[in-house]
Amino acid sequence: MSDIRPIRIFDTTLRDGEQSPGCSMNIAEKLEIAQALADLKVDIVEAGFPIASPGDFEAVRQIAGAIRGVTICGLARANNEDIDRAAEALREAEQPRIHVFLATSAIHREFKLKMTQEECIARAVAGVKRAKGYVDDIEFSPEDAARTEIDFLCRVVEAAIAAGATTVNIPDTVGYATPAHYAGVIRSLIERVPNIDRAVVSVHCHDDLGLAVANSLAAVEVGAGQIECTINGIGERAGNCSLEEVVMALKTRQDYYKADTRVVTQRLVPTSRLVSNITGMQVQRNKAIVGRNAFAHEAGIHQDGFLKERTTYEIMRPEDVGFGKTDLVLGKHSGRAALADRARALGYHLESDQLVRVFEQFKLLADKKKELYDSDLAALIEQQIREVPEQWSFARYTSAAGTDEVPTVRLTLRRGEEEVSCEMARGDGPIDAMFLAVEQITGVEVRVRDFQVHSVSVGKDAQAEVTVEVEHRGNTFRGRGVSTDSLEASARAFLDAINRASAGYSSALATAAAHAAPSA
Ligand code: KIV
Ligand code: ZN
Repeated sequence: MSDIRPIRIFDTTLRDGEQSPGCSMNIAEKLEIAQALADLKVDIVEAGFPIASPGDFEAVRQIAGAIRGVTICGLARANNEDIDRAAEALREAEQPRIHVFLATSAIHREFKLKMTQEECIARAVAGVKRAKGYVDDIEFSPEDAARTEIDFLCRVVEAAIAAGATTVNIPDTVGYATPAHYAGVIRSLIERVPNIDRAVVSVHCHDDLGLAVANSLAAVEVGAGQIECTINGIGERAGNCSLEEVVMALKTRQDYYKADTRVVTQRLVPTSRLVSNITGMQVQRNKAIVGRNAFAHEAGIHQDGFLKERTTYEIMRPEDVGFGKTDLVLGKHSGRAALADRARALGYHLESDQLVRVFEQFKLLADKKKELYDSDLAALIEQQIREVPEQWSFARYTSAAGTDEVPTVRLTLRRGEEEVSCEMARGDGPIDAMFLAVEQITGVEVRVRDFQVHSVSVGKDAQAEVTVEVEHRGNTFRGRGVSTDSLEASARAFLDAINRASAGYSSALATAAAHAAPSA
């Protein structure tokens, strides 16, 4: 028998991850991420919090109906209405799980719930029993467990398991724990709760002190069997335990942890890119595992050692986490089959019409840019597959700017067959002038809340990727544009956001409704 213990990966990108400010997603985007998580082979996908809003309910319902080969979980507070709604959303799931939670720490009992310990236990038991009436697979979380009195925590966990919980999750809700403290809590539960062998012990750590991964790993060392985490570590406040980091720590240090997951690690980078593109949350360059610099060697001594023997300075192989072995992929002589092949390797499933459009754009880009990198291709694909039904599209522009000149832009947009140009727009800078020009033509006025430019790949001819966040009638909309010309990329991003705003296609905080409703 293998001495390697299997650890379940419970991904909560679509629930806790979505609680990151500015990270809300629409249903189509959630479905795409859910499929990517199933392909990544996580064990459980927490698809949302069905009671939170009709949009959340619908997302969980559609994911439950469409995604196979993985457990689909819905969150519920320990009350009948939440649990019934979660059960309804999960009806079509192949393997449904209801996740019931109730705060247990003294602070939460006194100030939030106004409940005694006995009332808390009774509510938790009632919640688990009600959920058990719908499905067998029940997870119970005593919220703020890491700050809950240990004797009381043991009693709650024992009662939840006796009521039918098959997983007991121990959240460090506010990211307060340290590795030794958190491992101590888990060890105490394993040693003291008499029926603990009837449930999987799970960990759920927030990253307020930057310790979420360390705390989760410390818990695995003392017997935890499930880790809750998110792609790129997104989540409430400072985020959650990062899936890619915890998975690669277990794999790389299997000698030490004697544990592993079933995650297909080669899909980590594509999945990270997908989540970052959809949420607009950029991955920092030096982020472990999936950051662009994670495998880049700069110092001469390091490069020299690396070239002599890779393992002198590299503990993982980039290809094992999904970075292309050679990032330089295609040029203007490459054909459609090569492009489709590379897209598949990057984790995209393109329909044939999408492939045709991506290929056209690819040829145009290859004329402008000598070397095309994986990241260029991913940016092109993202632009094509995530288009909203376009009302306005970019046609062309001219601009004048200089140190002592007022920047001006003359822009032409397309709507169907028709082309519309604006008067000369003047702004504080060329980008301001460009945004004013877009507003003039479309007649939609918005407030820009965020504007970011990144280079997609390397070199002077690298493509610029611009993301903007705009506010329109109390809702927030995100847009994205890519071009080798950063002013054009800005126009495209702004236009994308405006098209979303006028279509009411809010992937962002239109979920204002969702967040006015309860959030975990
Ligand atoms: O952080 C937390 O306590 C949660 C629970 C709902 C599990 O997200
Ligand atoms: Zn959480």
